[in-house]
Amino acid sequence: MKIFIDSADIDEIKDAYSSGVIDGVTTNPSLIKKAAEKQNAGKDLGDYIKRILDVAKSTPVSLEVTEYRYKDMVKQGKALFKKFNPSAKNVFIKIPVNPSFPDDETRDDEGIKAIKDLSKAGIPVNCTLIFTPEQALLAAKAGARFVSPFAGRVDDYIRKQNSIKFEKSDYYPACGMCRKKGMLHDNGIVSGVDLIAKTVEIFQEYGMKAEVLAASLRNVRQVRECALAGADIATLPFDVIKQLLVHHKSREGMEKFTKDVIPEYVKLTK
Ligand code: E4P
Repeated sequence: MKIFIDSADIDEIKDAYSSGVIDGVTTNPSLIKKAAEKQNAGKDLGDYIKRILDVAKSTPVSLEVTEYRYKDMVKQGKALFKKFNPSAKNVFIKIPVNPSFPDDETRDDEGIKAIKDLSKAGIPVNCTLIFTPEQALLAAKAGARFVSPFAGRVDDYIRKQNSIKFEKSDYYPACGMCRKKGMLHDNGIVSGVDLIAKTVEIFQEYGMKAEVLAASLRNVRQVRECALAGADIATLPFDVIKQLLVHHKSREGMEKFTKDVIPEYVKLTK
């Protein structure tokens, strides 16, 4: 499974890439806003984004459109690609699967149309804000190279609907939770990992070319479960990437091995 960093913070991206095991970057308007505030990047945002593309070099960096009408998304996607792809040839354009707002369903299929147009023009698309395997299927049929189901936000939604208190990083069981009335779910999806697993299953069944990018992950156990479910990619916040290596027993073992080193052994390599 490929590991992407879900961040627009250049320091985090540099730090993550220095490990040599990061395969790409995903950004979104909220992450750009956060980075612009922290890094004062708003002043010259174009240059700032080019620095990110340069750090990520030959690995994909997703830049999201902010428009929400079909033609406008295509226009903006093409403009973003034209402006930023030449610097490191690694830009993916992120298109929402459904750009409608909660009380306005007039744009339900405009994301799919935009994906189709951009893909036809040879621009690689990462389809975002996916909450059902059906949305992922249509995005893949339209030509998206990556489909991004939002696992963490599904868990949040199920918990909120059922008045379960939680912190953003709290683990939610992949197999779902049972209450008096039965299994908690969102239209048959019992957890974020279940959303990933069902999407992977459908894609394998029909030989879809798009890669399943597990997004909105908040803890290491979810990462493991997405890998077991067969996700092609997981995009992770920097703090979750750092947590992937942590185990108390590794640290304890290291301390003991270091205490036990005999000088004769060290001399062998001097
Ligand atoms: C994916 O590409 C998104 O940027 C991201 O994973 C959303 O995560 P969040 O639900 O933690 O905001």
